[in-house]
Amino acid sequence: MTAEETLDALRSVVEPDSGKDIVRQKLIRDLSVDDGRISFRIELRDPLSAFASQVEGLATTAVRDRFPNAEVAIEMDNVMIGFGDDVAVEGDANAGAVPSVLNIIAVASGKGGVGKSTVAVNLACSLSELGYDVGLMDADIYGPSIPTMFGIEDEKPRVNENRKLVPIERFGIKLLSMGFMVEPEKAVIWRGPMVSSAIRQFFADTEWGDLDYLVMDLPPGTGDIQLTIVQTIGLTGAVVVSTPQQVALADARKAVAMFEQVDVPVLGLVENMAYFVPPDLPDRRYAIFGEGGARRLAEELEVPLLGEIPIEQGLREDCDAGTPHVLVHREGPTAQVFEVLARETVQRVDLRNAGLEPSRRIEILHK
Ligand SMILES: Nc1ncnc2c1ncn2[C@@H]1O[C@H](COP(=O)(O)OP(=O)(O)OP(=O)(O)O)[C@@H](O)[C@H]1O
Ligand SMILES: [Mg+2]
Repeated sequence: MTAEETLDALRSVVEPDSGKDIVRQKLIRDLSVDDGRISFRIELRDPLSAFASQVEGLATTAVRDRFPNAEVAIEMDNVMIGFGDDVAVEGDANAGAVPSVLNIIAVASGKGGVGKSTVAVNLACSLSELGYDVGLMDADIYGPSIPTMFGIEDEKPRVNENRKLVPIERFGIKLLSMGFMVEPEKAVIWRGPMVSSAIRQFFADTEWGDLDYLVMDLPPGTGDIQLTIVQTIGLTGAVVVSTPQQVALADARKAVAMFEQVDVPVLGLVENMAYFVPPDLPDRRYAIFGEGGARRLAEELEVPLLGEIPIEQGLREDCDAGTPHVLVHREGPTAQVFEVLARETVQRVDLRNAGLEPSRRIEILHK
């Protein structure tokens, strides 16, 4: 009897209006599972709806069906939001930022060139394939690569009648890139406050609509710029990408430390370029950059290893061609690896939303 299994059971409780289950909607809070007892709170956003009157019974049944001998304690919590209130649900990680964006996930790395953007793109697409509403934001002011990876280099987001930016949509994913706003050659002179206000604008002045996940591709490193981005918005959590080499792992450790320093939960590590399977010798597996490094680091840092991505020529080619690999090679082995990564990420996020404190936005001082 685990928290994961409990959440899985609760996923069967679907609100008819939105078609979304109560876990996906982040209605489950303070989940605790121990010693034959399961307790949690259900946060109702619309306490007068027909669904609100049924949800406690439905949730109880869902959990009892899974664990017939468990003691189930559910507390109902009404979170009324007045008309015209601009605030998100209290305690929400994204409070005040974008209430319609439920989860914001940063994809980061200590070292450059380890495959952050590749992972961000294919993770976003895999989440979308799983049925979630997904946005992807390229926050890499130095070297935006999302436009290339989606083949939209020549496009510009339009501004709608409310003077909000409208993300460009490709393959059902809403995209926005710092590359649309700044010339990368000028980005090197950017300072924290400029980055902070640009990121803020990206959130506040963009018509993201309802999103389950907004994936953010961060610039490489753990300096002032990264710290600023991380602290400007309340992140749900971070995914740290590394390759197996010691140098990359050492920088991944720094990235994890950076997130911990500002209370952003690290959802897990991803090892990219973990191994190579020759297409003509599918039974062989070569650990070109070494073996097990990210797994050992994950164990040491007590964070999950969310996935191990192989080196694949097609993955690189599809990045360059602007067609995300997992969408054009759905049945391939690498798409399956990314699907597992996406499912693991969802599980970590759901656990965090149900049980952990949300990350806080912290004011930082720039010298
Ligand atoms: N698993 C992989 N197999 C093959 N090629 C890969 C893989 N991962 C990344 N690449 C390629 O390696 C290069 C660097 O990847 P990517 O741009 O995703 O890294 P990054 O960490 O975002 O880099 P930067 O730090 O510059 O933002 C790209 O050409 C990409 O196509
Ligand atoms: Mg990149």
